[in-house]
Amino acid sequence: MSDTQKYHITYNSIHKTVKRLAREVESSDFDPDVTVAIGTGGFIPARILKTFLKKPIFTVGIKYYNDEDNKPRDKPQTIQWIDEVEKKLAGKRILLVDEVDDSRTTLEYCLKELLRHKPKEIAVMVLHNKRKTKRGSFPRGIRRYFVGEEVDDTWICYPWDAVDIDHHDRMV
Ligand code: G4P
Ligand code: MG
Repeated sequence: MSDTQKYHITYNSIHKTVKRLAREVESSDFDPDVTVAIGTGGFIPARILKTFLKKPIFTVGIKYYNDEDNKPRDKPQTIQWIDEVEKKLAGKRILLVDEVDDSRTTLEYCLKELLRHKPKEIAVMVLHNKRKTKRGSFPRGIRRYFVGEEVDDTWICYPWDAVDIDHHDRMV
């Protein structure tokens, strides 16, 4: 895919999308106690969200690669939890944040893990949801799904991946 066919997003527009999403959360019936950011794509959106919602952030990482042969697995296998996370999530309303809902595999895996720790409620927030057939699905009982923007199934270039941010911004 050529650079021009990809969808380039600036930090500025992400900031505004997150602000709008924060307002949506505030006017919804879901009032989170904490956010959980899925690394690494969810880190920066979650941090921006904290500016508006002012809730603590916990982070979790998903491991795609087999430590033995360093090849990608077909499913996320290991989740890297900060030790304290599990205890802190019991009985809480969690807002799970990631940058993109693509195949939904990571989100499904992560939601199932979080549900094991008996939170009160869980909602999901993503900057982008790709319109496509999903491999994963949300477990039952997910309270809300907040989406910044519905997009076609094309490659999204996030500013934090840019080696030359000025070039990136010119591609928008
Ligand atoms: P999903 O459950 O959120 O749909 O994620 P999925 O497992 O399908 O995605 C696998 C990886 O590919 C994820 O990164 C996801 O962020 C990334 N990805 C999917 N589509 C795009 C895209 O259009 N643009 C970019 N930049 N990334 C995309 P990951 O392995 O979790 O790594 P990280 O980049 O978040 O650290
Ligand atoms: Mg990701």
